[in-house]
Amino acid sequence: SNVSIAVVVGSLRKDSFNWQLAEALTKMAPPGWQLKRVRIDDLPLYDQDDDAQQSEPVQRLKAEISAASGVIFVTPEYNRSIPGVLKNAIDHASRPYGKNAWAGKPAGVLGVSVGAIGTAMAQQHLRNVLAYLNMPTLGQPEMFLQAKEGLFDPDGQIGQASRAFVQGWMDAYVAWVKRHA
Ligand code: FNR
Repeated sequence: SNVSIAVVVGSLRKDSFNWQLAEALTKMAPPGWQLKRVRIDDLPLYDQDDDAQQSEPVQRLKAEISAASGVIFVTPEYNRSIPGVLKNAIDHASRPYGKNAWAGKPAGVLGVSVGAIGTAMAQQHLRNVLAYLNMPTLGQPEMFLQAKEGLFDPDGQIGQASRAFVQGWMDAYVAWVKRHA
């Protein structure tokens, strides 16, 4: 069986820790499970006037989300919330009214920040949004990661100290998706 999961990363930064985390996660998925990162950097700023004629990048995003069996959000924390670029992408794919691409997709939320609380506030804000969009979202284990020496191996995998913890999250998310299939 082939299961495809969309991965949305809330940072556009070239050397983003969250991109590295997303990259490492893709290697932790079980056989037959594919984690596909979706682009959000080419989306225009959301404008409700465009709902009747969504641009090509918006249509592509919506098609990718619709085709996925679930969505993993990997996000930094900006000023104790989610980055605007992530909210922009979420708003786009939730519209037009009645055509919410996120609805029903089992979601997972995780993130890494340089701050000690490891994106906890951003994740709580995101959970609020996902609840409204009708996404059943994995509650436990929570994944608050701090970017420090050794979080990633030189080969891009999660470092030894956190690897089992992150793998445990991946396993719980996979079980969550199966439960909602
Ligand atoms: C931050 N950063 C940050 N960190 C944090 O733990 N809590 C916060 O509220 C904020 N706020 C914040 C606002 C803005 C505008 C920026 C640019 C940064 C720091 C943040 O954790 C750090 O830049 C990470 O490296 C961002 O994630 P990526 O881009 O590495 O994935």
